[in-house]
Amino acid sequence: MADIPLPQAFPQAMRRLIGHCTVITAGAGDDRSGLVVTSGISLSADPPQVLFCVNRGSSTWPLLARHGCFGWSALAAEHEEVAKRFAGFGGVKGPDRYAEADWITDVTGALLLSDAAMTLDCEVAEMIDRDTHSIVIGRVRAVRLRDDAGALAYWNGQFRSIPA
Ligand SMILES: Cc1cc2nc3c(=O)[nH]c(=O)nc-3n(C[C@H](O)[C@H](O)[C@H](O)COP(=O)(O)O)c2cc1C
Repeated sequence: MADIPLPQAFPQAMRRLIGHCTVITAGAGDDRSGLVVTSGISLSADPPQVLFCVNRGSSTWPLLARHGCFGWSALAAEHEEVAKRFAGFGGVKGPDRYAEADWITDVTGALLLSDAAMTLDCEVAEMIDRDTHSIVIGRVRAVRLRDDAGALAYWNGQFRSIPA
């Protein structure tokens, strides 16, 4: 392992972290996109804030700044197909990523997956640029919880459904 150059070792190291798959949604109508992230975590409880990291080349990045809010849908065990669409598998882009799922709104108008394990309706508090990515800090305006949803994780290069 010590002989592996850093550019190859780092992605291999990251594969050993388990991440919860979360869909971030931004924009409205034809002007909407979204992506799946595993970089989403809690930042603080008082005030309620979260953060995730987004590639500045992603179609969602400009929408976050322009619309000023986003939806956070923590995926449930059965949501692998939703995750694949929002990861852009098969070349699915923009509004087409929202197909074959039901969406609701809460306070800000951001779209939230109706049967997510939990949803956070967020305002963009800050976007901090770091090289290829931005750290997006979200101020949570509303929370919805679903009981017995399980979770969709990503670990070692594969989606893993965790039953409730
Ligand atoms: C499991 C998984 C986790 C991901 N996590 C992130 C992430 O934290 N941040 C990010 O910018 N992209 C992440 N991606 C990649 C984006 O989902 C993907 O590049 C994006 O959907 C492409 O959108 P675009 O077509 O708008 O560029 C992840 C992909 C997968 C499969």
